[in-house]
Amino acid sequence: MAELIEFETDRLRLRQWQESDFEPFAALNADPQVMEYFPEPLSCQASDEMAKKIRSLIMERGWGFWGVEAKGAEAFIGFCGLHVPTATLPFSPCVEIGWRLSSAHWGKGYASEAARGALHVAFQHLELPEIVSFTTAGNQRSRRVMERIGMKYSGEFEHPSLPKGSLLRPHVLYRLRREQWDAKA
Ligand SMILES: CC(C)(COP(=O)(O)OP(=O)(O)OC[C@H]1O[C@@H](n2cnc3c(N)ncnc32)[C@H](O)[C@@H]1OP(=O)(O)O)[C@@H](O)C(=O)NCCC(=O)NCCS
Repeated sequence: MAELIEFETDRLRLRQWQESDFEPFAALNADPQVMEYFPEPLSCQASDEMAKKIRSLIMERGWGFWGVEAKGAEAFIGFCGLHVPTATLPFSPCVEIGWRLSSAHWGKGYASEAARGALHVAFQHLELPEIVSFTTAGNQRSRRVMERIGMKYSGEFEHPSLPKGSLLRPHVLYRLRREQWDAKA
């Protein structure tokens, strides 16, 4: 078990998952707007399994897709953080940065704020050489977060976990090397 990394930003707390996060996480995973760029919304059981897997990876490594809480409200609003993709991708091995927030909390800059904090952990604390991020080409909201936090567009690839012919299969890749990172981005 590694030393647990948790941190705060101006408005958010990124932390290990709690049992009470499972219910709001299932609700956001069932929301078709949140899951627009995924194959389908998740059942409650699939959502719980995902939360448990994320929690155990944080326990193992000390970092991962942290639960995101809005300060003051003390409420779980989604996840953001670092992850080693399970699929072998054209640019593997790699560490990705990713996010998924409840739609009630979009448009407030929370994803970008949380992601900047995660980049700080990745580069300053873990001293990783590079972070990647990728999403299906049409997911403009997610691409805007990548651009806002200073990641550089680096071309397209076909995601091997999605079936050939699926509209979600063409993905865009963004990368950021430690020496390109600007903590003020
Ligand atoms: C991707 C996702 C996290 C982006 O959320 P978001 O709210 O658009 O992104 P941010 O939190 O960075 O917020 C930025 C928006 O908030 C606005 N904003 C409001 N107050 C702000 C503030 N104080 N600071 C910064 N931005 C602010 C910005 O103007 C921007 O709006 P715009 O996109 O219309 O220009 C969200 O759409 C989501 O969870 N999607 C579903 C899951 C998903 O697709 N994940 C990615 C899979 S790879």
